[in-house]
Amino acid sequence: MLLLGIETSCDETGLAVYDTTRGLLGDALHSQVAMHTDYGGVVPELASRDHIRRVIPLARQALAQAGVTLQDLDAIAYTAGPGLAGALLVGAAVAEALACALQIPALPVHHLEGHLLSPLLGAAPPALPFLALLVSGGHSQWMAVHGLGHYELLGETVDDAAGEAFDKTAKLLGLGYPGGPALAALARHGTPGRFRLPRPMLHSDDLDMSFSGLKTAVSLLVRDANPADHADIAAEFEQAVADLLTAKALRALQQTGFERLVVAGGVGANLRLRASLTEALQARGCSVHFPPLHLCTDNGAMIAHAAGLRLAAAGSPAALLALDGQAAGATGSFSVRPRWDLASLPPLHTPHTPGRAAP
Ligand code: KG4
Ligand code: ZN
Repeated sequence: MLLLGIETSCDETGLAVYDTTRGLLGDALHSQVAMHTDYGGVVPELASRDHIRRVIPLARQALAQAGVTLQDLDAIAYTAGPGLAGALLVGAAVAEALACALQIPALPVHHLEGHLLSPLLGAAPPALPFLALLVSGGHSQWMAVHGLGHYELLGETVDDAAGEAFDKTAKLLGLGYPGGPALAALARHGTPGRFRLPRPMLHSDDLDMSFSGLKTAVSLLVRDANPADHADIAAEFEQAVADLLTAKALRALQQTGFERLVVAGGVGANLRLRASLTEALQARGCSVHFPPLHLCTDNGAMIAHAAGLRLAAAGSPAALLALDGQAAGATGSFSVRPRWDLASLPPLHTPHTPGRAAP
């Protein structure tokens, strides 16, 4: 099965061609970072308009890279949520229109499921079931992945998402948007520990997390520090996030009995976090799996890939759409879901997961 994947949920237009047997064949991406940077964050209306401008040229680019044409496609997968409503509508409208013209199915995909399964696109894909840490600009969650579509929320942030904390802290340090990569670059020149930041909820007896106190503590430090100290503050901030997530990872593995951890979402690109998790989990005899670095942030490949796995498990596009409560091409209408709970997805029983129920 050959799929085109379309991702437009936020500030990246991602198009990819994925073959369920041959893997990723074409991958084209445009980041709107430069466009939003003057505003210090994503401006939804500008995001939607830019997706409109980019989506068709990027589709052509991904298809050309894959050496296929539109007529070769078996289905079009698109991010139906969660995300910015206007931005989602661009990808959804293009996907549904293309699918209608080509008389093939359009498959709505949950953005976070795309992230969650993206480590399976890497060199050492983990077997199901596994523990997953989703850390993006909008989410910080521990999920038990019992099987495809069978996701159980174990804990989440009680305030800011980890990526949001990176972005806000970067702003306090005078860095641009998005803050994560900029803060990480600055932290490379700094030493953690010279300034001391709190580790909120480190010892709480659950898998919930809190990041907003870190940002407040940084704002107090920055007030009295001079710019030469900023690299050390950035390094300590990164270390605090890595310490928090590593401690919770060990707790989550102990609680679930899983031996594999998958880290997905933009913050999963952070090298200090990767090193901290890898060291701690190896010491425990557990493994940790990350998506390839370029697939950590939003992209079309993870959307086409997730749809491909769902399709293989469901058996046919019609069966998959029926599971999602939609009839294939029957109504001519579609919708997006700016808010969409990952745990509400219908479970699919794959050969790896012969009907194992959640505890
Ligand atoms: O998954 P993603 O691309 O978009 C969402 O769905 O939110 O994640 C974006 C988030 C931003 O908050 C960004 O600052 C953060 O991921 N991020 C990083 C790094 N690269 C991106 N945070 C820390 N270190 C990085 N290297
Ligand atoms: Zn994302």
